[in-house]
Amino acid sequence: MASEVTHLVIFTPSGKRGRFPTGTPVLTAARQLGVDLDSVCGGRGICSRCQITPSFGEFSKHGVVVKPDALSEWNAVEERYKSKRGLIEGRRLGCQATVQGDVVIDVPPESQVHRQVVRKRAEAREIVLNTSTKLYYVEVEEPDMHEPSGDLERLCKALDEQWNIKGLHADLNVLSYLQKTLRKGEWKVTCAIHSGSGLRPPSIMNVWPGYYEGSIYGLAVDLGSTTIAAHLCDLQSGEVIASSGVMNPQIRFGEDLMSRVSYSMMNPGGAAEMTRVVREAMNALFTQIATEAGIDKHLIVDTVFVCNPVMHHLFIGVDPYELGQAPFALATSNSLSLEASALELDLHPLARTYILPCIAGHVGADAAAVALSEAPNLSEDLVLVVDVGTNAEILLGNKEKVLACSSPTGPAFEGAQISSGQRAAPGAIERVEVDPVTKDPRFKVIGSDLWSDEEGFSEAIGKTGITGICGSGIIELVAEMRLAGIVDGPGLIGSPDQTGTDRCFLDGRTYSYLVWDGTATGGPKITVTNRDIREIQMAKAALYSGARLLMDKFGVETVDRIVLAGAFGAHISPKHAMVLGMIPDCKLEKVTSAGNAAGTGARIALLNTDARREIERVVKDIHKIETAIEPRFQEHFINASNIPNSVEPFPILESIVTLPDVNFNTGGDRESGAEGGGRRRRRSAR
Ligand code: FES
Repeated sequence: MASEVTHLVIFTPSGKRGRFPTGTPVLTAARQLGVDLDSVCGGRGICSRCQITPSFGEFSKHGVVVKPDALSEWNAVEERYKSKRGLIEGRRLGCQATVQGDVVIDVPPESQVHRQVVRKRAEAREIVLNTSTKLYYVEVEEPDMHEPSGDLERLCKALDEQWNIKGLHADLNVLSYLQKTLRKGEWKVTCAIHSGSGLRPPSIMNVWPGYYEGSIYGLAVDLGSTTIAAHLCDLQSGEVIASSGVMNPQIRFGEDLMSRVSYSMMNPGGAAEMTRVVREAMNALFTQIATEAGIDKHLIVDTVFVCNPVMHHLFIGVDPYELGQAPFALATSNSLSLEASALELDLHPLARTYILPCIAGHVGADAAAVALSEAPNLSEDLVLVVDVGTNAEILLGNKEKVLACSSPTGPAFEGAQISSGQRAAPGAIERVEVDPVTKDPRFKVIGSDLWSDEEGFSEAIGKTGITGICGSGIIELVAEMRLAGIVDGPGLIGSPDQTGTDRCFLDGRTYSYLVWDGTATGGPKITVTNRDIREIQMAKAALYSGARLLMDKFGVETVDRIVLAGAFGAHISPKHAMVLGMIPDCKLEKVTSAGNAAGTGARIALLNTDARREIERVVKDIHKIETAIEPRFQEHFINASNIPNSVEPFPILESIVTLPDVNFNTGGDRESGAEGGGRRRRRSAR
C-alpha cells in the first residue's frame, strides 16, 4: 500500500514541527504538536481565536521551501468572517486552512492561549495567561425520547467530547436557566467553565446561547489598612481594563492595625462591624469600577485578594483577637478558595474568590503577593524588597532562601500624623531641594512639572494651590534639611542662630522650619515641626530595623539590591531614603521601585492559576521573623532613630553626599530628637 503523503509543518515562535497528511487543519496540527493556539469555538470558524500567519518562500534555517499553495484556498467561512469582522492581511483561520504542502506558520501573540500579558516595566517575572475560568463553545445533542437524558447531562457530554472536560459540576443557579438557553441557542451554547481547584471539580459558571461575543472578568484586589485598590481584568486578554481605589472605611475604627484589633476587643460586635463596612466598601468599589469599564459586574467571575493578616481576618469574618497578642496565631495561614458570595460580594452569583496564603501572624497575603511579583526566591543576587505602607512588609533573600518580616512604620509615610502632611494628590509638595547655603527650599507639587522657583510656577499651580506635603515629599524634605544642616543627626531642628536662617522659628519648646507661607493668598502655612521629624524618624527606624534584622538573620552586612514597592514606594527618591537611613547603604542604581507589587502579585494570581500553586509552595519555604520578640529589633530601632544612623556606617552614601556635622542640643530644656524618640511609645501594629 502506498504510504500517505505528509508535509512538514513548522510553527513559530515555538519551533515545534511535525509531518501531517494533506488536508489536516492547521488547528489540528497545532493541537497534536502541543502548539499554543487558541480556540473557543472548537474549530467552527466562529471565534477567530485561531488566527495564524503562514509564511511563504525559502527558509534555509528550517530547510523548507514554502510554496504559495502550501495551505488550502481561502474558504467561505474565512470570507464571511473577514467581511463581518475584518481579518489582518495575511492572516488565516487556523481551523479552516488545511495543510497542502510544507509550511511555516506563525502563531501571533494574541492567538496563543497562554499568551504573555504585557507589563508596564521590566518586571521580575512575566505573567502568562492561564485563568481559572475560560469560555468554551459547544454543540449539544437535542433531547431524544428514546434515549432519555437531561439537558445538563447532554451538555456535560458535549463538553467532554468536544473539549475533554470531565467530571463537571453545575450549580442550581445554572440549572435554573439552562433549558431556555439551550433552546434559544438552538443547542449551541458558550459556557464559562471554572477549571476546579484542589478537590473541587470543574464547574459550569455561566451558559450563553450561541457563540458569546463578550468576555468574562476578574478582580485583583489589594486590601490595605488605608486603601483598597482594585484592578478589573479581562480574563480572555489579561488586560487591566479599569483600576480604582477607595479608602478603607475601617479607618474610623482605628488608623493602624493594632487600634482596629483593640476596637474589636473593646467593643462587642466590633469585629463584625468592621467586616461589614469593608465588604460594603468593596461592593461599592466593584460597582464603580464595572461602571467605569462599561461592563455588567455580574460578568466578574473570579477575584483574588491580598491583604495583611488583620485585614484578612476581618474580611473573611474572623475576629482578629489572636493577632493582637503573642504568639499571634492566624485562624489559617493557608490560601483560601471560596465562593465570593460567602464574603457577601455582589458579583456573578457563582464568582470565586482566592485569597493568597499568609506568611505568618504579622506577615500577610500582601507580603506573599509581593514575593510572587518580585520573586526574591528566583534572584541570583541578594535582594531586599520593602513594601512601604502603614505596615512595611520586608523580604530578604535569593535563590538559596528568603526571610520575611513586617514592621510597624505607621502612617507617617503616607503624609498622616505630619502637621502639614496630606495624601499624594494635586497640590501636595512631592519633591524638595534645600539650598545648603541660603537654606531656602524649592519644590514641586503634584500636578505641575515646574520647580517653585521657575518661571510660570504660580500660574501652573493656579488651580490646585499648594496644599501640603505628601509622603515622598516629607522624606525628601527631612533628608534635604539634614543635608543642609537644618536638622542634626538626632533629629533636632536648629534655631535661627544655629542654622543661619529665619525660616527656623521657635514653635513651643522646639523649632520648626517654614517651607511655604501661603497665608497672604488665603493658602496654608506649610512647616516642618520637630514633632514631624520624630514621626518620620520613628517610621524610618521601624522600616530600617526590620530590614537590618533580616540581614542579621541572613548573616550579611550589605545587600546587592533593594526594591521599593508599594504605591508610595514608587515615588521615593533612593538617595533621600538613604540619607534618612530608611534603607540600608546600597548603590543608588541598585535601588529600584516596583510600584504596587502586592497589587501586581494579586493580578498574577488572578491571571495564572499555576502562580497560585507556586506561591503556596514558595510561602512554605519563607522563613518568618517576628520582630516583636527579637531584642535586636529594639537595638536597631534606637540606632536607626538617628539620621541616618548612630551606629551603622553608610560608606556608599558618604561617597555621594556630605552630612553636616551639626548638633543642636545645647543642653537647654529642649528635647533632643533621639531622646524624644526613645521615650515615646514604640508605635505598635500588634
Ligand atoms: Fe474558532 Fe477557528 S477555532 S474560528
